[in-house]
Amino acid sequence: MAKEPLSPFSLYSCAHDMKAVITGSGIGVPKNVVKNDALAKIMDTSDEWIRTRSGVAERRYADPGEGSAQLGMVAAQAAMTAAGVGPADIDAVIFATMTPNFYFPGNGPVLQAGMGFPEIPTYDIRQQCSGFLYALDLADTFVQSRKYRRLLVIGADVHTPLMPWQRGWDIALGREDREITPEEYAFNTRYRDRTVLFGDGAGAVIVEASEDGERGFLASKLFTNGANIEALYMRGGSQRRPWVLPEQVESGDLIPDMEGREVFKQAVSKMPEAVRAVCAAVNVGVNDIDVLLEHQANLRIIESVAKQLALPAEKVPHNIERYGNTTAGTLPILYHECVADGRIQPGQLICFTALGSGLHWGAALYRT
Ligand code: ACO
Repeated sequence: MAKEPLSPFSLYSCAHDMKAVITGSGIGVPKNVVKNDALAKIMDTSDEWIRTRSGVAERRYADPGEGSAQLGMVAAQAAMTAAGVGPADIDAVIFATMTPNFYFPGNGPVLQAGMGFPEIPTYDIRQQCSGFLYALDLADTFVQSRKYRRLLVIGADVHTPLMPWQRGWDIALGREDREITPEEYAFNTRYRDRTVLFGDGAGAVIVEASEDGERGFLASKLFTNGANIEALYMRGGSQRRPWVLPEQVESGDLIPDMEGREVFKQAVSKMPEAVRAVCAAVNVGVNDIDVLLEHQANLRIIESVAKQLALPAEKVPHNIERYGNTTAGTLPILYHECVADGRIQPGQLICFTALGSGLHWGAALYRT
């Protein structure tokens, strides 16, 4: 069925109860499934350690040539199909990623040209693990302000280029038949606390204006604190002359830095605070939440946040065991899977929450 043609700045309905609703979702994940045992071939780790300390059992790795824009386009196409819309029906795109295909431009123009969108605005945003949460907030704000009526919102990340990829990782993928050298093994082991946690993936939703009254985004609370950026960051950038030196690659300087325990502590305190704050903003109880969609960084973080909020396990779905941490891809992938398997039902109160590098964190409430 053809959708009503829309354009930015169109004077659509002036009803008071305009809400932003999600009308379709989709995901794009790479085909390569890499189990913990495969990583144990190339560094000093084990399936047991990774499962018990993080909850991850397997993750997916993109192939060279498959960037976050490509995964995002797969997710975007699936979301548009689910919503029954095409490129001509979208007023604007918001693409959240910390791993764009290029240093510049962002993924917006890649997607615009790759998917045949008209020359609509595309916004590229960062915010790492909180990227999709921030993107949802922006989409809701655009709808509330009546600037755009229908947006495509994508969260996608491809972490594999940030790993010590040239040091025997094809052995983990089963593509190279040789023993890893002791030097490669030692190098990879230096980064085992972070490399085992991450996977690649994308999710997308269509957010559009609705006068349905009940459904839609209710509120969000977003926060930033840059006091300890070094707790989770990647060096390089415009302070450097030049941006990248060959020896930085050799020394591991371009592999993200992470103080795991510090980030863990922040995550288990800031996410519950944000959830309580967003519930208070619209006068609902935390126990009114039907489904809490948490960023998937560590199963112990997910369970600790649920426990502090006194939410039972059945209200707090997780898929970290299958994908690891997909950064901006995490929340839309989880949302999509919960809609697809019926864990999210019409009329429910959904809470999205995330914390990541920056630190950026927050929570958003949504009535399905
Ligand atoms: N395999 C085996 N042993 C390991 C591994 C591994 N992959 N990684 C670390 N270890 C070892 C450590 O060397 C240490 O050994 P030691 O006791 O001999 O020194 C031991 O395990 C314990 O290490 P800890 O760092 O104390 O382990 P912890 O229980 O804190 O778990 C983890 C580490 C999983 C990183 C955890 O701290 C965590 O999940 N932190 C949060 C990460 C996060 O949320 N990131 C945010 C999102 S990312 C983004 O925004 C882009």
